[in-house]
Amino acid sequence: MMKEEQHNHQNQRHHRQKKLEFITVKLVRPVAYIILLLLTYTLGYLSASSSSSTIFSSSPPPPPPSSSSIQQFVNLPNQLDHFRVTTHCADPVPSEVVRQTIVDKVFNSTSPYDSFPPAHVRNLLRKKRVKGWGSKGAVFEHLIRKVKPRTIVEVGTFLGASAIHMAELTRQLGLNTQILCVDDFRGWPGFRDRFKDIGMINGDVLLLHQFMQNVVYYNATESVLPVPFTTGAVLEKLCEWGIFGDLIEVDAGHDFNSAWSDINRAYRILRPGGVLFGHDYFTAADDRGVRRAVTLFARIHGLKITLDGQHWVINSS
Ligand SMILES: *[C@@H]1O[C@H](CO)[C@@H](O)[C@H](O)[C@H]1NC(C)=O
Ligand SMILES: *[C@@H]1O[C@H](CO)[C@@H](O)[C@H](O)[C@H]1NC(C)=O
Repeated sequence: MMKEEQHNHQNQRHHRQKKLEFITVKLVRPVAYIILLLLTYTLGYLSASSSSSTIFSSSPPPPPPSSSSIQQFVNLPNQLDHFRVTTHCADPVPSEVVRQTIVDKVFNSTSPYDSFPPAHVRNLLRKKRVKGWGSKGAVFEHLIRKVKPRTIVEVGTFLGASAIHMAELTRQLGLNTQILCVDDFRGWPGFRDRFKDIGMINGDVLLLHQFMQNVVYYNATESVLPVPFTTGAVLEKLCEWGIFGDLIEVDAGHDFNSAWSDINRAYRILRPGGVLFGHDYFTAADDRGVRRAVTLFARIHGLKITLDGQHWVINSS
């Protein structure tokens, strides 16, 4: 059976190669080269998928690809671009219902601060435990003064240092601003080496609780709300629910894939004229991750990056 298929497979390949030679000869060189590239790509994909189906299923091998199925894969590089926008975000909900929308959809219509802290964690929390990196930079005040945001989305919150700082700034400026803190509140593997004082119950680290305790301590529960899931999952939902940010801070995973995905998703829920910004355009790890993602993103969208301290800033207008 395997042998037969291999033979069949070789036949197919032989047939395809003949076809390729024919095309190569017929066309002028640059065009032929591009077509050749695409076909090679396509054939690689098709033969990979047909050999894997040989291993995992006992059904007969798929029929040789017709020209229409080849056509279907000609745009493969496009199809593999999972950051391509294929869905549209819902129409924006008014800023004054943003908080209630999140409370309804995420917290069963009850503020997570009600009856906080629960008895089983009370003794494991510190009165306040805030730690951030560059979370008091001048960039926050610059942007809040400029944008006068009604909704801020913070992607990557940890213990809430910058969220609390922004809440303080918006209060001083008399703005009525909701700050949504998007984070899974689990830190990262190994973060406990540096934060041994953060409690843990049966492997459940108390970051969300300590963050909320910090918000309570700073009297910011009316303006700061956690959205405690992974950044990708939340940003997709905010888009679906029509929740847009006037100001979006992206400061979660700093590896390229995380930063790239967060920035692309965040941009979709940025209100026209809003500002996207984030930390770490300068530190050692930047060029592998954040900086490369930001630079590539700005180039693709024809946007300009400005710098403010260690922060990158992208203005959508
Ligand atoms: C959600 O809220 C309703 C109404 O207050 C309540 O009856 C229900 O028990 C709540 N569900 C959960 C999972 O807390
Ligand atoms: C929070 O509010 C209380 C009561 O108004 C006040 O005593 C306290 O100083 C405030 N805390 C902070 C950190 O602003």
